Amino acid sequence: MFALHQPATGTPVVTPHIIELNDVSKEFGGVTVLDAVSMQVPAGAYLALGGVSGAGKTTRAERKTRSLTLLNELGLEHRSHHRAIQLAGGEQQRVAIARALINDPEVILADEPTGNLPHELWSHVLDLLEAEWKNGKTVIVITHEPGVAARAQRVVRLRDGRLEG
Ligand SMILES: Nc1ncnc2c1ncn2[C@@H]1O[C@H](COP(=O)(O)OP(=O)(O)O)[C@@H](O)[C@H]1O
Ligand SMILES: [Mg+2]
Repeated sequence: MFALHQPATGTPVVTPHIIELNDVSKEFGGVTVLDAVSMQVPAGAYLALGGVSGAGKTTRAERKTRSLTLLNELGLEHRSHHRAIQLAGGEQQRVAIARALINDPEVILADEPTGNLPHELWSHVLDLLEAEWKNGKTVIVITHEPGVAARAQRVVRLRDGRLEG
């Protein structure tokens, strides 16, 4: 359960996996959304999970057991379920990120963090996430935007219930 990993700075190190999925499957009404997905995320990684809308990215994020879903939790305390939402505007989204980071989480799981943001604010959010990564945090960005995914160290895509890349 260890990986040779290239951290934000310095030489490759052997780190434990902070997240592991083993043969995770999920279907909704007979439609397979996740088809025996397995993957490991080393501590300190900056990973992007891509795939078209409806591919199962959010479903997969919800199946992570040892990670914290943070960026989208603001204002969700009253909700009975834990579906991620997209925040309405740039201000709210940045406040949400700031609040999430105050807790100093080990893992940042950002589901469509640029979802409702105007383009000019994307780099602000992505810079914040990158700064956390450089600070040693594990960052997982879930996005259907190739340009957002490209900021990560490694990109995997969900397609037909399977991971590629
Ligand atoms: N609670 C649910 N009931 C039925 N179908 C669902 C439910 N949640 C997600 N789905 C379906 O599962 C698929 C994957 O959804 P989701 O993980 O939200 O996709 P993504 O985040 O990649 O856009 C979609 O076809 C969606 O309609
Ligand atoms: Mg989603």
